[in-house]
Amino acid sequence: MRIAIVGAGYVGLVTAACLAHLGHRVTCLDIDAARVARLRIGDLPVHEPGLDELVAEGLSNGHLDFAGEYAAIAGSDLAIVCVGTLDPAEEWDGEVVRATVRDLAHDPRLPRWIVIRSTLLPGTARSIAAETRAIDGSVRIAHNPEFTREASAVADFLAPDRIVIGIDAPAADAGGDSLAMALRDAYAPLDAPMVVTDLTSAETIKVASNVFLAAKVTFANEIARLAAATGADAQAVVDGMGLDTRIGRSFLSPGPGFGGSCFPSQARALPLLARRHGVQTPLMDAIWPSNVSQADWLIDGLERAAGRPVAGMRVALLGLTFKAGTDDLRESPAIRLGQALQARGADVAAYDPLALAAGLAMLDAAASEGAEGAEGAEGAEGAEGEAAACRGADAVVIATEWPQFRYLDWAAIAPTMRGRIVVDGRAVVDAPAATAAGLRVIALGVEAAGAALRAVG
Ligand code: UDX
Repeated sequence: MRIAIVGAGYVGLVTAACLAHLGHRVTCLDIDAARVARLRIGDLPVHEPGLDELVAEGLSNGHLDFAGEYAAIAGSDLAIVCVGTLDPAEEWDGEVVRATVRDLAHDPRLPRWIVIRSTLLPGTARSIAAETRAIDGSVRIAHNPEFTREASAVADFLAPDRIVIGIDAPAADAGGDSLAMALRDAYAPLDAPMVVTDLTSAETIKVASNVFLAAKVTFANEIARLAAATGADAQAVVDGMGLDTRIGRSFLSPGPGFGGSCFPSQARALPLLARRHGVQTPLMDAIWPSNVSQADWLIDGLERAAGRPVAGMRVALLGLTFKAGTDDLRESPAIRLGQALQARGADVAAYDPLALAAGLAMLDAAASEGAEGAEGAEGAEGAEGEAAACRGADAVVIATEWPQFRYLDWAAIAPTMRGRIVVDGRAVVDAPAATAAGLRVIALGVEAAGAALRAVG
């Protein structure tokens, strides 16, 4: 099948490279000429495990190409729209998708089957479909949401739990619709269960899945707070809960709160959409405020352990990205933690293995612009590595679960620190090693000694 991908961002590149790997002829389009030139020599603008290899494979066997002009995708069987959905204020908005679909619809040489893969607020695709029908009645719209996590996007694409296809005018037997059948063919090698439905249901499956997972993380965070207060071991609690197959262990790890380009914007937007429809959603309304209060809860725990406010403390902040394995800092809880520490008067020395310069710029910008909570704060200082960040620190805060943080040489780090406290916001610290080095590990609100009884399996 000849497939055009519109937008060579994160989702577009993964989709293009994986579909080429499945044997399709894929042309990936982007308006950024410099990006296209780099992509043509296999130089990727995003960090994603396994993606470089797939792009290189597609470029060398001729299944994948990059282009800057719509003319390059004339004759493709379908166009998959993967353009961004965040506005300049990082809020979720479908305007770029709408404009892209309109551009495609206006040119009859371009594919008449337009598949939107970008995430949409439920109801958007139906209105885009109505608009395009008015431009050209032969255009068909489908929505095929992605469920790929950053840092495991290639694996998620190639082994999906399900494939969801929403189509504009479902036939009585939706599986028999020509557009739905073309998409079934496109994904045939993946052998995953397929849900074929209408556009708004497909949009809702995507967003409800993300917001549900965001709620699950938030529930785990609140259970961690309760566990810290009652003396339970939060890790044992979520492990024990997760063994119930109705619950499952994934997305039940407490931490500093969720971040990224999807969960935060969708957790805020879905309750707003409900309100616009006059629907009450008290459970959904609570997710985002609870999520952002997690940073303060972790810092309160640090202050309790230290017996003093963080003002004037030098705090080593390890990890800035929103999770490990990515250089993405969007809505990172680590940045929220850094800003909250700065706002309370701490001096922050930060380290991140992939995104230090950009992360520091975000902390500095919040401080200099007087962002909410960070008014009057000093900018943060960058460190060459974990050990350098910890030198002279009164406390260490682990904000991202980078694997190397499990193996920190606490025996070497501890003597260089001014204080003794390690706040482990991701349950990654080797607590026995850190404790043996004379440090006090506060793992999600609980002092490490309390975790000694843990055994699962
Ligand atoms: C998400 C969805 O998972 C994916 O299906 C969608 O298509 C894009 O958005 P992503 O943003 O890459 O993927 O991140 P994800 O791995 O889902 O994690 C989101 C946030 O939740 C991260 O900040 C992560 O650290 C946090 N999280 C996740 C936890 O705090 N605890 C957990 O148990 C799981």
